[in-house]
Amino acid sequence: MVNLAHLRPETQALAGLPGVERLASLRIEHWIGYTRAHRVLAQLEALLTHEPGQVRPRNLLIVGPTNNGKTMIAEKFHRTHPPRTADDGEYEVIPVLRVQMPAEATTRRLYSALLIAMGTPVGLQGHNDLREALAVRLLRAVGVRLLIIDEVHNLLGATARRQRELLNLLRFLGNELRIPLVCLGTRDAYLAIRSDDQLENRFHPLLLPRWEEGDELARLLASFETVLPLREPSQLASAPLRELILRRSEGTIGEIALLLADATATALRQGEERITGAIIEQTDYQAPSVRRRLIERELR
Ligand SMILES: Nc1ncnc2c1ncn2[C@@H]1O[C@H](COP(=O)(O)OP(=O)(O)OP(=O)(O)O)[C@@H](O)[C@H]1O
Ligand SMILES: [Mg+2]
Repeated sequence: MVNLAHLRPETQALAGLPGVERLASLRIEHWIGYTRAHRVLAQLEALLTHEPGQVRPRNLLIVGPTNNGKTMIAEKFHRTHPPRTADDGEYEVIPVLRVQMPAEATTRRLYSALLIAMGTPVGLQGHNDLREALAVRLLRAVGVRLLIIDEVHNLLGATARRQRELLNLLRFLGNELRIPLVCLGTRDAYLAIRSDDQLENRFHPLLLPRWEEGDELARLLASFETVLPLREPSQLASAPLRELILRRSEGTIGEIALLLADATATALRQGEERITGAIIEQTDYQAPSVRRRLIERELR
């Protein structure tokens, strides 16, 4: 009997399958908890419990490099507070509403995004002023208690006037509905929010920095190892592998996940049942900076 105690129960079942089937399973995404993510989730829970109805609800701004787990946290939180049918069965209750700041953002597009997220057919959205009134009425009717706006860095792409309009709109929604706002984005999201003094002091920033060498990284890699369908332990958390993974991935959780999936594929193709330093070195994975350099060379 092979000992699969190093794997999560659902991965243990997968690990028994032949290599080709395990290769196909590598695309599945698993949620992996880590201290910062748990801290952010706890703050979101606190916001949802205490802030709705306050005259000046507190807001959160979750900032981190691209591909570092911001959206995954918002999705995880949303899954624990899904839309449901009201007790009388008449209408839908959406406690947590998630939208993205549209690329080339305008207030019109943001209202559209809100309406679509609440299930309003596009054709029924009406003209600009109607759209605003409809959005506010619907946000109340479906009982939104917390609004998540992802990709807030898109704001910086808009003209100064549009940025101001959009920031006013965010402020208006928070004040009018008395609900907390949660904005997610890269450093540019922070710069955009900072340009409005009133908003800035209502937003509490939370950072999701790049991963660094240390115990937290060791714990993260140990958790990743429990979802890789390999029959032998790889000891990814050991110092040499940890340093190698950090160096090759350049330290975002998205790249770490990608590198580990690629390394698992390399192992399976070679008939190996664990990831070693040699396998990571042989894995045909390119770090973001390498990819960027290659593209720039091609474009020259
Ligand atoms: N908690 C997690 N558990 C497992 N994998 C994760 C986790 N968080 C992030 N990842 C991996 O990292 C990838 C990128 O995460 P995500 O989309 O949340 O990044 P992001 O910070 O929102 O990036 P962007 O700023 O580009 O939108 C995910 O597709 C997933 O593979
Ligand atoms: Mg994202």
